[in-house]
Amino acid sequence: MGAKWAKRFDEKRLLKMDMIKKIEKYTSATLGKIADPGVLLVVSKKDGSCNVMTIGWGLIGIFWAKPVFMVAVKHSRFSHGFLEDNGEFTVNVPSEEMGEAVALCGRFSGRTHDKFKECKFSTAKGKKVSVPIIRQCKLRYECRVLHKLQIIPDLIPADVRRTYYSGRDENNFHTLYYGEILSIY
Ligand SMILES: Cc1cc2nc3c(=O)[nH]c(=O)nc-3n(C[C@H](O)[C@H](O)[C@H](O)COP(=O)(O)O)c2cc1C
Repeated sequence: MGAKWAKRFDEKRLLKMDMIKKIEKYTSATLGKIADPGVLLVVSKKDGSCNVMTIGWGLIGIFWAKPVFMVAVKHSRFSHGFLEDNGEFTVNVPSEEMGEAVALCGRFSGRTHDKFKECKFSTAKGKKVSVPIIRQCKLRYECRVLHKLQIIPDLIPADVRRTYYSGRDENNFHTLYYGEILSIY
């Protein structure tokens, strides 16, 4: 390997180590917020329009040797169309005093509400993605969809199906979006 390639390889390795260290540092706090009260998923379309919704399920880990944040979004969500359009998202971890905003973003749809305005969110441009981040949040993840999977209905345990996919949600399954984490700050 030439010196130039060796240097590039070393740089890549260091960048990856830096990201892994950040993941180690922030994952437990992030998972705690996912569980309660939820975190804020921001999405945008290629035309620049944005939406925000609360998510209470998600995974952080390593896949294909890349750091990954997986979010699960039901087909019926307004945000689903944004993810399909643009394939990028940010996950914004709320601070303690943001509980009401998190509840509002999980109750109302962007189809009928301008949740950024109603929650008085101030946004800033993403560093690595076209989707904005929420300034009031002290920790943000910028992600680009690496892969997505549809839930296989026949493989859902019966009790889970009864709880999460019954009545009007009978065929309203989640798409699992595996976003490569490009930046954490
Ligand atoms: C605490 C909490 C967690 C939630 N987690 C998820 C989730 O992980 N995936 C999902 O599809 N919907 C989830 N929801 C529901 C959406 O946030 C809600 O339907 C929202 O209004 C969708 O917004 P949208 O239509 O603007 O995309 C959650 C709601 C709450 C209150």
